[in-house]
Amino acid sequence: METRKHSLSASLLILWSIISILPCKSDARDIKENKAPGESNNKLDWFHEAKFGLFIHWGLYAVPAGAWEGKTGYGEWIQYGAGIPGAVYEKFASQFNPSNFNAEEWVSVAKNAGMKYIVITSKHHEGFCMYDSKLTDYDIVDATPYKKDPMKELAAECRRQGIKLCFYYSVKDWHHENYPIEYTYFSKAHPDGFLGFPEKNKPDYRKYFSYMQDQVKELLTNYGPVGIIWFDWYGSALNPGQTENRAMAKQLVDSIHKWQPSCLINNRLGGIGADYGTPEQEIPDGVQKQAFEVCMTLNNHWGYNKNDNNWKRTDEVIYNICDIASKGGNYLLNIGPTALGEFPEKSKEILKGVGKWMQMNGEAIYNTTSSRVSVRWNPDVEMITRKPGTYYLHIFKYPEDNRVYLNDFKENVKTVYFLADKEKQPLKFDIHPEGIMIHVPDEPVDEINTVIVVKY
Ligand code: GLC
Repeated sequence: METRKHSLSASLLILWSIISILPCKSDARDIKENKAPGESNNKLDWFHEAKFGLFIHWGLYAVPAGAWEGKTGYGEWIQYGAGIPGAVYEKFASQFNPSNFNAEEWVSVAKNAGMKYIVITSKHHEGFCMYDSKLTDYDIVDATPYKKDPMKELAAECRRQGIKLCFYYSVKDWHHENYPIEYTYFSKAHPDGFLGFPEKNKPDYRKYFSYMQDQVKELLTNYGPVGIIWFDWYGSALNPGQTENRAMAKQLVDSIHKWQPSCLINNRLGGIGADYGTPEQEIPDGVQKQAFEVCMTLNNHWGYNKNDNNWKRTDEVIYNICDIASKGGNYLLNIGPTALGEFPEKSKEILKGVGKWMQMNGEAIYNTTSSRVSVRWNPDVEMITRKPGTYYLHIFKYPEDNRVYLNDFKENVKTVYFLADKEKQPLKFDIHPEGIMIHVPDEPVDEINTVIVVKY
């Protein structure tokens, strides 16, 4: 009976936590609208232009690298999933020495892939700070043999290479004595919370919130301009109805706007102050009205997992970039570096291939807006991106009959050419009452996605 009660309450809590992360109606209202071609909405301009960013999940979980007591399927949730007591987990800090961390290399990998911004975990749910926080000793400078602040180096290098640095910050904190257990998933392995030390005091969310506020201030005042503060997630702490908690979050948003007026905020602070939405591991159907950024893993895990070899292919990543851009969104693609501070070789290899395509075809991605005009499905003009006066047709399946149709296309077309063709040699096209038919040669110019530029 006791077990049944336990598992029922566990399921309810999990369900509640899942529901709580879905943006509710009032959250969605805050999110900014996607812009029409040529339009500006200032604060989000760089974000809309950028289209492609690098997510980095890096923390103490890189030490066990996804494996614990014979099981190998863990990632950044390993403390929770494997039921590792807080006192044991904390010890990973003394083994964390990322002596091969090289900010220049990391930023170059992103830049050469065609990415325009980096979002890195300053603190994940484990509560360990990957930057020098004066508010706790549970951070990379005070608790590890590395003793340095990698975020300082990363910030300097991002500035040097013209990449925007953004910070992920977890609202949920399994290490803070004032983070209430009822705001996170129930875990049988951690009946007293995740701290490893039983709650001595009654957790006080107000105290926790002021810690969080002070940490966000550190991040926004010590590292130069920050593109996004990427909150993740709040469990049930900021659900509608949590009036006092939500009021504190609102105050935090106001402070963020004061500390760095141009810093964007995602929708995972209970949706409060949200500039854009964050679908995770899935691409929404159809053109979206509101600004969004799809975050996705490159294999199956966010944090480093040494046994996970289920990598996405380069062409899949390119497909996703184009699909998301054609719907008006950004793609935030993740790497989980090792405890030594290295990007897995395979991640670098995939991104190199992506960079090759982006270098040639970036014009069809950056600063474009969404557009799907109705097209006949021979061949697959699956996606279209747009700029004022230009349509970019993304051809993943090259037509066997050498024809590309654009139906319901009433613009006055001036010229059509392959984006990858430096000479911009015009392609022949016929005008029909219902649209245009473009004649293409036998061979595609790009084996993954041949982009056709239609100027009107
Ligand atoms: C989820 C996971 C978290 C990960 C995040 C990325 O919320 O809890 O581990 O960082 O997704 O979007």
